[in-house]
Amino acid sequence: MDKLLITGGNRLHGEVVISGAKNAALPILCASLLAETPLHLKSVAALKDIDTTIKLLDTMGVKIARDGSEVTLDAGEVASFEATYEMVKTMRASILVLGPLLARFGTARVSLPGGCAIGSRPVDLHIKGLQAMGAAIHITHGYIQASTLHLPNRRLQGVRYYMDMVTVTGTENLMMAAALAQGTTVLENAAKEPEVVDLAEMLVKMGANITGAGTDVITIIGVEKLNGTTHNVVCDRIEAGTYMVAAAMTGGEVKLLNARADLLDAVIEKLREAGATVTSELDTITVKSDGNLKAVNIRTAPHPAFPTDMQAQFMALNTIAQGVAKVTETIFENRFMHVQEMQRMGADISIDGNTALVKGVPFLDGATVMATDLRASASLVLAGLVARGDTVIERIYHLDRGYEHLEEKLNKLGANVKRISQ
Ligand code: EPZ
Repeated sequence: MDKLLITGGNRLHGEVVISGAKNAALPILCASLLAETPLHLKSVAALKDIDTTIKLLDTMGVKIARDGSEVTLDAGEVASFEATYEMVKTMRASILVLGPLLARFGTARVSLPGGCAIGSRPVDLHIKGLQAMGAAIHITHGYIQASTLHLPNRRLQGVRYYMDMVTVTGTENLMMAAALAQGTTVLENAAKEPEVVDLAEMLVKMGANITGAGTDVITIIGVEKLNGTTHNVVCDRIEAGTYMVAAAMTGGEVKLLNARADLLDAVIEKLREAGATVTSELDTITVKSDGNLKAVNIRTAPHPAFPTDMQAQFMALNTIAQGVAKVTETIFENRFMHVQEMQRMGADISIDGNTALVKGVPFLDGATVMATDLRASASLVLAGLVARGDTVIERIYHLDRGYEHLEEKLNKLGANVKRISQ
């Protein structure tokens, strides 16, 4: 397994290009199953999770051509309606084929995702929503067996459905299912994340009738069929936020290209509160800092509140900031696994339930640490960038799932990061 060797102490300077969003590309790739004609995508990042999704769709018979960050998907002749455990266990977002398969083909067999490092992450709301739309769903031998063959015209039926938790992929799955349903679906308490909006914008270009995406009530009037279109995947706000924190922590000045400040209000607010200077134009953001940061309290919640996917990164910032910060994680029940790794680097953090108390220390010491999940890994990279001496991060396959060309981008900004291939 590959490792990263980071020699800390360099201030980051220069420009970095932000890639297309992983969490927009995943549902958007699965939406190809809804279209009768080819879907052309641009800004699809070179990430492990993207590769996994493309492989899953390929096993179903979707014809896929990939050229750099451009991907064309033709679901004209899908032959299999199954996502196996082998596929789903490597990437839980495979559940996003369930809605499209049911909507277009009336049948699906998708493995239940197993647990995950950051929490149990059930998919009960996805299933309940589809059942509310008339789908017959049975869980047998670890698989979700779903069908609409008993319904009039074998089509899902529009419904008003209240999601009792805000779920990003749940909202996306049900929105895709409703796009081809008979009648109108109203999703209440819908997720408002920018990735949900990007998916909705693409579905509308494919011929769907969707209003309200980005608010907590999304209305979808089902249509008979959808066609392919061309779509440019929205920029990755979490990748952007990660580089912004890196600039602030190392006391540098970094300009992010292909980055939208309007997707990062809560993160920018907290960086300014910590003492960094953040300015932005249409699709660039510049972060400047002298490295002397103040501790900032963080409480994660659904968009537009502070994103859970940026919690670990701000935990890293707080380990070397002046003062004491309270970091509260309200979305996932076990998203503090980066804490014990940072403690090995000298961080002063104590955990009480879903809240961590971080007391800033003058410096961190480089150490060998272990990545446990995608964003925890990113936070260890940030800690390594400012630590005294060398940090070795093990199991960096987690990082490769969500950060495109990470070491190249960081080294171009003046960091000292080497990948050690085992
Ligand atoms: C999406 O996961 C993202 N992944 C996650 O990003 C992100 O952390 C999360 O949303 C929250 O913003 C993708 O978009 C591919 P949820 P998702 O359903 O949709 C509970 C990353 O680092 N829940 O919004 O799986 C769930 O347990 C990843 O890029 C149910 O109880 O998250 C959690 O506590 C990590 N039942 C909460 O809701 C359900 O049916 C929010 O989960 C669904 C969710």
